[in-house]
Amino acid sequence: MKGKFITLEGGEGSGKSTAIESIKQWLDDHSIPYLMTREPGGTPLAEDIRNLILQTREESVSDMTELLLVFAARAQHIAEKIQPALQQGVWVISDRFLDSSYVYQGNARGGSFAIIDQLAEWVVSDCQPDATLLLDVSVEVGQQRVVQRQQQDRLDKESFSFHEKVRQGFLQRAVAEPNRVSIIDASQDIESVKRQIQAQLDRLQLNWASTGS
Ligand SMILES: Nc1ncnc2c1ncn2[C@@H]1O[C@H](COP(=O)(O)OP(=O)(O)O)[C@@H](O)[C@H]1O
Ligand SMILES: [Mg+2]
Repeated sequence: MKGKFITLEGGEGSGKSTAIESIKQWLDDHSIPYLMTREPGGTPLAEDIRNLILQTREESVSDMTELLLVFAARAQHIAEKIQPALQQGVWVISDRFLDSSYVYQGNARGGSFAIIDQLAEWVVSDCQPDATLLLDVSVEVGQQRVVQRQQQDRLDKESFSFHEKVRQGFLQRAVAEPNRVSIIDASQDIESVKRQIQAQLDRLQLNWASTGS
């Protein structure tokens, strides 16, 4: 049986990296084999592309260049890492995936959703997430949590309104696809967020078991 593909989405400081630990614990408790990964990146070549995307540079990066680099990295990530693992029955948990492209390159940068739809059809095709956990928190709280980070990348340095568009974009996607996307209230303390995530995983697993999927 194929592994499940679960993605984590949310703005900077929403707690995605922290949530990975709660998910690992749940998977270990259920003796489920898994692989943790992230986007952009996930393979050596895709991580090189990530660095190209996130580096602060003097040359301005065109929106289309950013979009295509993200999808180039994703093509490699899917072909070399995600698909092979799922085929072997391994669950794949990715810190960011396709929703981030819609939200960062679409909602926040104003890119064409029609173009992103086409790239998604071409690059992602049927490698869609089985479930997505959206960590939702206000931009203020998210930014307060990451101020201590020494290294601010090109996207971290974007304006408050950019990050507000990111938040609203994610929420719109959750409303449009409620069966796939679960909203986690990430403003709560770490223990409460962990409980919400593990409760969602329990619910998803019951659902998948009952439908035999
Ligand atoms: N629910 C929470 N409450 C308070 N602080 C949190 C919470 N979740 C994460 N943090 C802290 O906020 C910072 C950013 O979290 P992180 O998981 O790295 O976010 P992301 O990966 O989404 O950018 C970290 O220092 C982390 O310890
Ligand atoms: Mg992170």
